[in-house]
Amino acid sequence: MKTVKAGLIGFGTIGAGVVRILDSSAEVIRQRLGASVQITKIADLDIKTDRGIKVDPGILTTNADEVLEDPEIEIVIELIGGYEPARSFTLKAIQNGKHVVTANKALLAKHGEEIFSAADEKGVCIGFEAAVGGAIPIIRSIREAFVANQFSAIEGIVNGTANYILSKMSDENCDFQTALKEAQEKGYAEADPTFDVEGIDSAHKIAILTRLAYGTPVGADEMTIQGISSITPEDIDCAREFGYRVKLLAISKYDGKSLDVRVHPTMIPENHPMANVNGVLNAIRVCDDLMEENVLVGHGAGALPTGSAVVGDVVEIVRNSMAGTGTRVPSQSFHTAKIKPIPLKKIEEIESEYFLRFRVKDVPGVLAKITGILGNHSISIASVIQRGRGYGEKGVPLIMTSHLSNEKNVRDALSEIDRLDVVCEPSNLIRVEN
Ligand code: HSE
Repeated sequence: MKTVKAGLIGFGTIGAGVVRILDSSAEVIRQRLGASVQITKIADLDIKTDRGIKVDPGILTTNADEVLEDPEIEIVIELIGGYEPARSFTLKAIQNGKHVVTANKALLAKHGEEIFSAADEKGVCIGFEAAVGGAIPIIRSIREAFVANQFSAIEGIVNGTANYILSKMSDENCDFQTALKEAQEKGYAEADPTFDVEGIDSAHKIAILTRLAYGTPVGADEMTIQGISSITPEDIDCAREFGYRVKLLAISKYDGKSLDVRVHPTMIPENHPMANVNGVLNAIRVCDDLMEENVLVGHGAGALPTGSAVVGDVVEIVRNSMAGTGTRVPSQSFHTAKIKPIPLKKIEEIESEYFLRFRVKDVPGVLAKITGILGNHSISIASVIQRGRGYGEKGVPLIMTSHLSNEKNVRDALSEIDRLDVVCEPSNLIRVEN
């Protein structure tokens, strides 16, 4: 039976998960693949720490070139994350004719053009199922299952850390810092949680899904990104009062002319298919012309779920190579020549429903002033709640939801409202997806 040799760069949590799966599932892989996959070299700066798995010390190296230049290695698994040296290692692997499997969403979101073009030129595959949604087979679904479908929206909870924090804030009525601290203690959040909680990780993932779904490059730096660090227990409480949950959503919509891609905290109704996706789970909702909607839910992070997606890519590459079909499926879903820019809407141009929170003096005429300004900016109010007295100097919370409105109109109205002397603190908006 054929044995295919792979090299691993990055022996962290996911790398160790991949090694574990290739060992513990070796027999089932052989039965399904008709070949074996063997990791013959592992490169990491730290080759001393015990990962709790049995590895021949002779295959460990601190020099990535020993993987990249080994003529026997057909597949390089890049799991170091970040932009550099991941980019250089990936390009070098491609130049050396090796297929690459990666979980690195930051790399693909930023350097996708360069990496996919280099891979095309060399005729090698880039597998990146693990880059979005961990074990959820969203890349394969878009690339291979939904091939006749014209997508109108992809939206998802694609960051488990942020979802864990928001779920905890909602379940226990605690503030962001308390929930973050617990996420860090449980190992879900990094010591520096910026990428996860400020929406950057989600932006990388939605950039990748946008490329695959619509055949267009979009950079995380081109979209509006707002994280969850400013969400308060009061926001979550008010959302509940209106029948909503707050989730960090990555959204990518296409109306046939332009794209609307953004990441921000979003209120979704309690009966929305993603409203009860809690904790570290991820969910991705795909809307198109043929199946209307499809929601995929699963573990978006962790050694074994993400490792399983990596191993799935490795096996697919080996299958293609054994069948002599090389890069059977275009890495970017569309053929490279068909990847073309689609104009991106500015955030001011989008239409959304809004949840608006004001802090106002509880005196006659306040509601009339605020609704008057909203009306002047063509914003139609869907519902209003004013909470009772007893808030002192801070003013009473006045909460409204709007019908579909233009973002620029909403922003202009809020800045005018914030200048009123009856308004006690800057108002707050959260977009609503119904
Ligand atoms: N840090 C990510 C998350 C997992 O919290 O979902 C890796 O993409």
